[in-house]
Amino acid sequence: MRVARTRSDMQGVREAATDAGQTLALVPTMGYLHEGHLRLVDLARKQADETVLSIYVNPTQFGAGEDLESYPRDLERDLGLAESRGVDVAFVPSDREMYPQPQSVWVDPGDELGGRLCGASRPAHFRGVLTVVAKLFGIVQPDVAVFGRKDYQQAVLIRRMVGELALPVRIELAPIVREPDGLAMSSRNAYLTEAQRSSALGLARALRAVREAFAGGERTAQRLAELARDVMEVAGVRVDYAEVVHPDDLSPVSEAEPASICAVAGYVGTTRLIDNAPVAGPSSLENVGA
Ligand code: PAJ
Repeated sequence: MRVARTRSDMQGVREAATDAGQTLALVPTMGYLHEGHLRLVDLARKQADETVLSIYVNPTQFGAGEDLESYPRDLERDLGLAESRGVDVAFVPSDREMYPQPQSVWVDPGDELGGRLCGASRPAHFRGVLTVVAKLFGIVQPDVAVFGRKDYQQAVLIRRMVGELALPVRIELAPIVREPDGLAMSSRNAYLTEAQRSSALGLARALRAVREAFAGGERTAQRLAELARDVMEVAGVRVDYAEVVHPDDLSPVSEAEPASICAVAGYVGTTRLIDNAPVAGPSSLENVGA
């Protein structure tokens, strides 16, 4: 596995791939890799000749008072995991490489998609995400980029950005990977104490309860969302939001349909966690205990 640390290293990799007639897949991450990230790598490897994994904790997507400084990092371990999973190139840029000057031009997600759900409690978050992802696309010039459904709103916004800005990259989405008990994998799970970890299961449990209620005939989105809220609160989660939304544009629905997405977010201690699932059909929630 090669490690590219600068824009020009990375651009060299892209040029060599182009000369050799090879396609590139990109998996953007903030590192502290877990199985959820590595499944994105598995999917990426099926999509292109070479797979690039980027590891960069992007400061512009963290708000004041959020966990930028404490965000877990272990580059040596990440590089080992990436190599053993078949990544061809790890792109590990520094802040200077990604933001050589103060950013003046931003990709604005707009209020309708970007101001809702996570955007409501993290106002500049998606602007930071879209801007860094656009930059990564510009540097790596991937043919395809792979993102996880775990960050569903992020995935919708990236698809929107690529469509509306006519960026020449195909976006593939991968399913949510969970721990055996149902907790969605996340680098931030590393913050949780044992007691907090069992509270954190409240998110997956809430989604399962919503799916069961839907299967039992409940269609009123507000009642499904209330149920999710209750289950999280009982588990000890401080609810940020619980909503049932349209899968394409995240608009609130009044009557849930099978493809509607239940999206939840909440705090366990100071750790903010998110999760989501369609209200019916396949999901990775089957193992979640009630
Ligand atoms: P990060 O949180 O490291 O996640 C990187 C990618 O892994 C995202 O596409 C995310 O949806 C996916 N992912 C994380 N946990 C997952 C899980 N349990 N199952 C499936 N996929 C999972 O998301 C970011 O970084 C950043 O915002 C980034 C896009 C890199 C921009 O900085």
